[in-house]
Amino acid sequence: MSSSAPRRGMLGRHHERGVLDEVLGDARAGRSRVVVLRGEPGVGKSTLLDYLAENASGFRILRAAGVESEMELAFAGLHQLCIPLMSHIDRLPGPQREALAVAFGLRGGAAADRFMVGLAVLSMLAEAAEERPLLCLLDDAQWLDRISAQSLAFVARRLFAERVALAFSVRTPPVDPQHDPWTALPELEVRGLRDDEARTLLDSVVPGRLDERVRERIIAETRGNPLALLELTRGLSTAELAGGFGRPDARPLASQIEQSFVRRIGGLPDAGRRGVGGGAPGPGGRVPPPG
Ligand SMILES: Nc1ncnc2c1ncn2[C@@H]1O[C@H](COP(=O)(O)OP(=O)(O)O)[C@@H](O)[C@H]1O
Ligand SMILES: [Mg+2]
Repeated sequence: MSSSAPRRGMLGRHHERGVLDEVLGDARAGRSRVVVLRGEPGVGKSTLLDYLAENASGFRILRAAGVESEMELAFAGLHQLCIPLMSHIDRLPGPQREALAVAFGLRGGAAADRFMVGLAVLSMLAEAAEERPLLCLLDDAQWLDRISAQSLAFVARRLFAERVALAFSVRTPPVDPQHDPWTALPELEVRGLRDDEARTLLDSVVPGRLDERVRERIIAETRGNPLALLELTRGLSTAELAGGFGRPDARPLASQIEQSFVRRIGGLPDAGRRGVGGGAPGPGGRVPPPG
């Protein structure tokens, strides 16, 4: 998963849990399901993928995550997802087997036929799901290499009566709006926590009493984004949390959040940087604000 922060109990998400429970139930009953969790960095997408994994008893679980630095590596994401299923490769029809073997570098040959690779992945997932239901989790799908993303979207559109659940998390706004292979797939928008849940989260991480006005302002400005709530409070001094915010010279909270991110990101090695999820610098090197 992308976040390096320790998992706390998941607050709220009644609607989302209901949807995801149905996804698992349908897949278990032989009606394949696909769901794309969309939301801004830090809003809780990976946490919901974890929820799926934790509730998928009886399922075989395959996971892969898009990695920004691997976006140029064709088939890297598919490879990560499918490698535990490679024992099934011999049961694939010849042309699919060849295409997959070439794509994954198990065999030399002309450039892998992309259509055949898509079919091979579809066959392999279907085959594995005969043994037991299969849950595939693709986190940070916006960073999958393009061919893996296209192949997985191809597979997602063709799953039907298998015992397969396929869940993607994709951040908004889109990394490349021209190329969003997930657009036609069923979506679950992930939004910030409700105000009462955000309050509970804040109270669980802030030592001592939080000034009421400060608390309301934090909740309003983070719009309930849990990562923003967690990170922000780590970047603020006790005095600020106890009410210093109200000073006329106080910087806007949004910029404090952003700067708190920048400070934190600046001190992290690359892997950790990505781990902050919401804080990874965008293409221009600028850190997008989480809220
Ligand atoms: N429903 C929730 N209740 C409490 N904390 C949450 C909830 N959802 C996410 N978090 C916390 O917020 C942080 C960011 O969540 P994450 O799932 O990594 O976001 P995303 O994958 O959308 O970037 C994590 O530390 C996570 O534990
Ligand atoms: Mg994530």
